[in-house]
Amino acid sequence: MSIQQDNIFQAIIAHAKEYGFVFPSSEIYDGLSAVYDYGPYGSELKKNIRDYWWKSMTQMHENIVGIDAAIFMHPTTWKASGHVDNFSDPMIDNKDSKKRYRVDHLIEAFADELQTKGEADKADSLLALMDKFLAAEDFVGLKKMIDENKITCSISGTCNWTDIRQFNLMFKTEFGAVASDNPDDNIVYLRPETAQGIFVNFLNVQKTARMKIPFGIAQTGKAFRNEIVARQFIFRMREFEQMEMQFFVRPGTEGEWYKFWKEERLKWHLSLGINENKYRYHNHVKLAHYAKEACDIEFEFPIGFKEVEGIHSRSDFDLTQHQLYSKKKQQYFDADVNPETGKPYGNYVPYVIETSIGLDRMFLLILSNAYEEETIHKEDGTTDSRTVLHLPSKLAPIKLAVLPLTKKDGLPEIARTLMNECKNSFKCFYEEKDAIGKRYRRMDAIGTPFCVTIDHQTKEDNTVTIRYRDSMKQERIPLDKIKALVLNEIM
Ligand code: GAP
Repeated sequence: MSIQQDNIFQAIIAHAKEYGFVFPSSEIYDGLSAVYDYGPYGSELKKNIRDYWWKSMTQMHENIVGIDAAIFMHPTTWKASGHVDNFSDPMIDNKDSKKRYRVDHLIEAFADELQTKGEADKADSLLALMDKFLAAEDFVGLKKMIDENKITCSISGTCNWTDIRQFNLMFKTEFGAVASDNPDDNIVYLRPETAQGIFVNFLNVQKTARMKIPFGIAQTGKAFRNEIVARQFIFRMREFEQMEMQFFVRPGTEGEWYKFWKEERLKWHLSLGINENKYRYHNHVKLAHYAKEACDIEFEFPIGFKEVEGIHSRSDFDLTQHQLYSKKKQQYFDADVNPETGKPYGNYVPYVIETSIGLDRMFLLILSNAYEEETIHKEDGTTDSRTVLHLPSKLAPIKLAVLPLTKKDGLPEIARTLMNECKNSFKCFYEEKDAIGKRYRRMDAIGTPFCVTIDHQTKEDNTVTIRYRDSMKQERIPLDKIKALVLNEIM
């Protein structure tokens, strides 16, 4: 990451805190590493992103329904899913600083440094070799790479490394108050992904909602991972939220559905008006323990191109594993006729395509894409500046600011009437304090797309000044057109 990129990232983090979007968790006790709280505007923005995803999945696709499963699940779930045995990352410790690193992150950071120094070819071949070693779980090869390239620890500055070891990322806790001879009896895990809550409910949902294959089950909710390298604000957290959808298909059709969801999900991102050039696909070389085919949708964050969403072809791995461990059939009866045999497809364990996006990561994407420190060139030749969030209107925490020019002459009463007319349909904000320019700037900083000023002319002709956040243009329009104008922009 260049110094300039780092400065922008730090400025976004500071802005998020100053304007009530994101606070470090339990900050009065100096915070908790990689855990964050969302403030008044942050929680609105986060909810709006979640709602936009939920609507696009469950309302706009007739064959997708939602659920809300518990965070705690029977511990055998995680044995069956492979997380107890396989959900780990290769780690390496620096013997001098005692700092632990994820091996891929250590090598990627070194490759970033090479890029900045203009050695892009060397960086690319290093990353290609790393992918190869990771895919083969060749830890000796990876260690050799770190040694030969003299990759150092950012704290101690030395290359004094331990061997590479696997480290499981699941948090454990104890269930119930009954003591047991075997402490393992009471162990439950905090779910590391929401997906398993969908898999174990596959038949409940299919039967009660009378779903026919192909169909999907969507869910949003918290997930927990004991991330080792967790110092990139809300990009990598220990407690975070996922928005996942498992799409159940007939075996043999998974290739076409994988392609469909890969394209469909990128379209969803672009529907928010974000520049297409800031996105790219990254096809996985090293596949997760459940995946047959997988890719990431990556976004160009201020910290570089990084994963925001994963599309995974999970085959029948999860349902078959749950069938094995629970001894309960996880099959679907497909009554459609197979044209090749002339008979129904019959019973089978469906294949699954998964779309999985981190809500907090999407929040960071929206925030960093929206953030601008703008220099304004005025008509008289002077300059001014403002910090503005160009948030998509439909996601903005506040849609409309209602601002009476003065606190008297009946202007607040007119403003309150407008507030009352609009607040049932979208989030509004009322303010009388300070000069109007100052009030506009505060709304720019939290990304409010529309400000309406009620002045003395309003009393004469029922018109108001609407001010647009991005262009800062102002125009006079009838007061009774405001609600429809805002609704039109946010739908
Ligand atoms: N069910 C599949 C699954 O969990 P994943 O690639 O491990 O796949 C999916 O995670 C998404 O969850 C990622 O693309 C990312 O957006 C988000 N995510 C994963 N770990 C995260 C973390 N520690 N902090 C914030 N978001 C995370």
